Amino acid sequence: MDTTLLKQRLKTTILGQAEIQHLPSTESTNDVARKLAQDGAKEGTIVIADSQLSGRGRLGRNWHSPAGSGLYLSAVLRPDLEPDSLCKITLLAGVAAAGAIEDVTSIRAQIKWPNDLLIHGRKTGGILTELHGDAASPTVVLGIGINVNTRIEDFPPDLQLKATSLALAGGKNVARSELIRSVLEQLEYWYLLFKGGEHGPMLQAWRNKCIMIDCRAIIRSGEQVLAGRVLDIDDTGALLLQDETGQVRRILSGEVLKYSQP
Ligand code: BTN
Repeated sequence: MDTTLLKQRLKTTILGQAEIQHLPSTESTNDVARKLAQDGAKEGTIVIADSQLSGRGRLGRNWHSPAGSGLYLSAVLRPDLEPDSLCKITLLAGVAAAGAIEDVTSIRAQIKWPNDLLIHGRKTGGILTELHGDAASPTVVLGIGINVNTRIEDFPPDLQLKATSLALAGGKNVARSELIRSVLEQLEYWYLLFKGGEHGPMLQAWRNKCIMIDCRAIIRSGEQVLAGRVLDIDDTGALLLQDETGQVRRILSGEVLKYSQP
């Protein structure tokens, strides 16, 4: 991948403008980005790898990262965060990544709360947001993983029925550099709005892409397992789930165990 060409084509003012570090292989791009951030890297610093040896997913899971066929990207962000805004950055990244997939492939990508990217109901990508530093000047490392040209046999057996890639869904390979350019441009568009305090349009875009609104769902949040109907997300980005008794629960973080159409 030619990062000089990528930089020349990139229409951003922050993301990818300070540094794009491209590694053939690394443990996890989020770890590299965290170290760069600790050493004072500027906002918008990007780390990209062709493969990850210990790619990380949410909830301590492994993120399968075979060589050359996926997008593994981390961005260093230094936003002025209100305490509960981190989950909105995750939502923002989901909207940007889904938008970039649509932009480059014309395939509709949907979002399963909080940040799974789905095509035809199968997982195509995910977001791992990690917060570092002190509350007064926090750093966010935003990690995005997308299965781009992954073939079905490249997935471990347990994922072969649940996962897909852009090439599998669209029937042709996709240029990773084009997808990276679009991800960075979309990310910057939504991030600048976010920094300007305009969160409404991003939340609305997220709702439009969310596959779960009105679905019945079972969600694990911490020690609790909650069942009900997904109503919406609120202005803080929390999921609103109405249980059998009619009570509406606000869920800030968790995992969807099951969902089905009403
Ligand atoms: C998930 O859905 O569980 C989140 C997956 C996030 C994977 C990306 S790939 C780039 C970055 N580096 C990592 O180790 N993880 C994230």
